[in-house]
Amino acid sequence: MNIGIDKLGFYTSHLYVEMAKLAKAREVDPNKYLIGIGQEKMAVIPPTQDAVTLAANAAASIITKEDMEKIDLVIVATESGVDNSKSVAAYVSRLLGLRKDIRVLELKQACYAATAGLQLAKGHIALHPDKKALVIGADIARYGLKTAGEPTQGGGAVAMLVANDPQILALQDDSVYYADDIMDFWRPLAATEALVDGKYSAGIYLDFFAKVFARYQQETGLTANDFKALLFHLPYTKQGLKALRVAIASLDPTKQAQLLAEFEASKQYSKVTGNLYTGSLYLSLLSLLENSTSLCPGDRLGLFSYGSGAQAEFYSGILQPKFKEALGDHTKLLAHRKEVDVLEYEKIFESNLKHESDRELDITSDPAQFVLAGVKENKRQYIKQ
Ligand code: HMG
Repeated sequence: MNIGIDKLGFYTSHLYVEMAKLAKAREVDPNKYLIGIGQEKMAVIPPTQDAVTLAANAAASIITKEDMEKIDLVIVATESGVDNSKSVAAYVSRLLGLRKDIRVLELKQACYAATAGLQLAKGHIALHPDKKALVIGADIARYGLKTAGEPTQGGGAVAMLVANDPQILALQDDSVYYADDIMDFWRPLAATEALVDGKYSAGIYLDFFAKVFARYQQETGLTANDFKALLFHLPYTKQGLKALRVAIASLDPTKQAQLLAEFEASKQYSKVTGNLYTGSLYLSLLSLLENSTSLCPGDRLGLFSYGSGAQAEFYSGILQPKFKEALGDHTKLLAHRKEVDVLEYEKIFESNLKHESDRELDITSDPAQFVLAGVKENKRQYIKQ
């Protein structure tokens, strides 16, 4: 049975800040952000968007009435949850108008959780081939103003419809994992910003990649030569490039150049959005599929998922015959955003909801289909516009 990603959707807010301007405001050489970090623009998420609305907006862009009849499992992976008890998936399923005879849940393991969701959904579809599962990674990356992590913020959601006989990517049974209890990045319950040991986290990411990729090659007999593209969780695009360089170091120059060119296509959306946390690896996949001109059905793609704390997984997928027909073009969504200057970005950053029990939000300037209108008596108020 071929099970995998049937459709891929993406949503980020309508606002962004230019990294060169942020660098200037922070009295940093712009090339540190543009080249050293590898980011050009950063999504700015207004208070009217949260993990629920980002997830709902991403999913609404791909699911049809026919899909809605078949979806009986909704998993939202996030580390930007809005409640310690009620799952983001419960809100999202209602906003999307999904059936009630379904399972909904939220998954957490930092940026890794969407991969866990995808693999769990694959098992579910193996047992129920006539059904579909909706897996969404939705997050807002926040480190704080004027912190070292600031240029690696961002936000958005990627939604994946998982089905038997998928249109886009058939997931292979070749996953290799590695887990350890590590304090590289964490978000204490009462904190609205993440805490991070930045350079340590970057080193651990590479160490985990080296471990799973070496074991993957031993267990499958495949090497980097067998992949048309290698895709990475991209907390910032330079981090993925460093991992790719490890993977291709022993290849001949032509193959190295080919994998570097596909990496270039895979980073186009992340470099103008920033870290999506759970959705980041799958934004790389979407960016590759929509921006590479050399992919063919049957090509093998390698996917490296990493979540701080820490969990890593490497696995592969095979491109399906009609994958091109199942894709949209998200360059338009990204091109039509509005730039905010650094002062406005700082104002928006500080106006995001903390732990308020009552607040009304101005939704008039947010063009998204689903928005957060405020909180009343500790109950979040979501609206479809
Ligand atoms: P920093 O201390 O500001 O930066 O922190 P730096 O001094 O290390 O410089 C960054 C790079 O810019 C360096 O390149 C410099 O050489 C270069 P590198 O040595 O890395 O190749 N540079 C320049 N290049 C060109 N022209 C210049 C120039 N100046 C300097 N003029 C750091 C950077 C990423 C650590 C920080 O932003 C941070 O802490 N970010 C958050 C943590 C993070 O993203 N970690 C990634 C791995 S962990 C992960 O992926 C999980 C995560 O997504 C969370 C989850 O799982 O939920 C984060």
